[in-house]
Amino acid sequence: MTDQLMYEDRLKGFDWSISEKELGYRKGDTINIGWHCSDRICKLGHGRKPALIWEDFLGTGKSFTYDDVRILSNTIARYVCDLGLKPGERICLFMDRIPELYIGFLGVLKMGGIVQPLFSAFGDESLWTRLNDAKTSAIFTQKKYVPKVRKIRDKLPELRHVIVVDAAGSPLKEGEHSFAMEEVPRVDHFDVFPSMAETPSVLHYTSGTTGQPKGAQHVHYSLISQYLTAKWVLDLRPDDIYWCNADPGWVTGTSYGIIGPWSNGITQVVLDSGFNTERWYAFIQKHRVTVWYSAPTAIRLLMRDGKDLVAKCDLSSLRHLCSVGEPLNAEAVIWSKEAYGLPFHDTFWQTETGCIVVTNFPGMPIKAGSMGRPFPGMTATVLDPKNFEQYDAPGRVGLIALRPGWPSLIRTYWNNPTGYANKFKNGWYVTGDRASIDKDGYFWFVGRDDDVINTGGHLVGPFEIESALLEHPAVAESAAVAKPDPVNMEVVKAFVTLKKGYEVNDDLELEIMNFIRKKLSPLAMPQEIEFVPSLPKTRSGKIMRRVLRAQEWGEPVGDISTLMED
Ligand code: PRX
Repeated sequence: MTDQLMYEDRLKGFDWSISEKELGYRKGDTINIGWHCSDRICKLGHGRKPALIWEDFLGTGKSFTYDDVRILSNTIARYVCDLGLKPGERICLFMDRIPELYIGFLGVLKMGGIVQPLFSAFGDESLWTRLNDAKTSAIFTQKKYVPKVRKIRDKLPELRHVIVVDAAGSPLKEGEHSFAMEEVPRVDHFDVFPSMAETPSVLHYTSGTTGQPKGAQHVHYSLISQYLTAKWVLDLRPDDIYWCNADPGWVTGTSYGIIGPWSNGITQVVLDSGFNTERWYAFIQKHRVTVWYSAPTAIRLLMRDGKDLVAKCDLSSLRHLCSVGEPLNAEAVIWSKEAYGLPFHDTFWQTETGCIVVTNFPGMPIKAGSMGRPFPGMTATVLDPKNFEQYDAPGRVGLIALRPGWPSLIRTYWNNPTGYANKFKNGWYVTGDRASIDKDGYFWFVGRDDDVINTGGHLVGPFEIESALLEHPAVAESAAVAKPDPVNMEVVKAFVTLKKGYEVNDDLELEIMNFIRKKLSPLAMPQEIEFVPSLPKTRSGKIMRRVLRAQEWGEPVGDISTLMED
């Protein structure tokens, strides 16, 4: 059988029941992701296999077997129940990539809670927006982030419990609890919540063009997609040592940084530390990583540091490389083939899709620069942006759309069913991205169809930035757009008009940048602020970001007939 046939073979007669069967699930059964990622693996006889090998930035390491993960997630589930929290309540995880984050994720699911992971670099305002929208009842966090939570606590009446995993003797206020996962009595048996396929599981906040971020609501049945895509696309095999670079504050870090590998019973390694080429290579060498799921921004940084560094390490354990989050340029694929002897396989998907939907399947010939072909069982196409009719003649650029029906598509946006309904046109789920399809069925990414900024693989919404900018006393009006960047692909640039009495100067620019960094996050912080006398607007007064964006990218501005004349 040739490699090409592998993909074609899997297409033939594909049915998601393949995954259901492998997971021992039958329609109408209970299904709980927390149980599947720990208890089930132990039941299959792999309790002593390492599930998580973790290292922090100092090089301190810890290792947890599947049995440890089972027991410690029980311990967390029991603790949460004892606090009086009930199934269906939203429980946030606001932590660095420490073991409590990974194991807590399973613990919350095991007691029937809806787990809401949030990126620990979020500032108090980003945190507040998301906790307020979800009416979150409890938050797990670390001592160093308690001040951020305290700052907004008064404005969050539903937030009953703040659980600090490393408080150890530091003074806590009312409603704040100290919980040391590895020091409390271990709970060997816990009655896992009997969630059904459609029971809500994970709530991931994601940015759109308009309004504040939306809570993408997943259900336990998403496991069916996540398990099989992890197995087939990441090519996970029982002896693999798998490394996913993504933080579980974002969907890659949960779908493929927790659920995918652990439901497959794979050993994964986690490095809780920022990017550093030498450190990363040393980590791969030390742990004999075999499968690596990374992202184009990291790959560009690795490329920048050159092949000499590669030659200094033993990376021979690597067998399969994948990438996600941004366009993977052809040069990166070619470079990785030269440097590591293996190409990165691009995978395309979104928070909303819950799993990889278009991909370079293992063994399929890679066309460098293409995202590959739909995962078996997925019907993907491009639509005419005017009437949402199929528009897939080779080379035509249209909106990437998918036929709904795969298990991990989100079921709604939290509190926003209209926003969710708007994602569907003519029976298609419309992703909001543009691409063309070539004669062999390969997808070629073109760009987003909205104003969302993708910086280093992280989406940031212009509205959230503009709202925060308006809270600065000097800012009268603002527009946030993407500006090209050689490493992060895009970074945020803000155009600002000042209130009377304020003068343009470098100090003010820095002050506003820092204001956003603290309130929202380092990702949302504008890398540049251009002070302008006025902003381009439509006659109805709406700021036309696309005019500013086009200016940054040196692109034609397009139709500006509705532009108001100043
Ligand atoms: O614009 C696409 C881009 O990231 C968006 C989804 O972001 P998010 O929901 O945060 O999920 C990120 C991880 C799945 C998409 O709408 N994107 C994702 N993968 C690719 C991509 N753009 C180009 N190529 C990709 N492979």
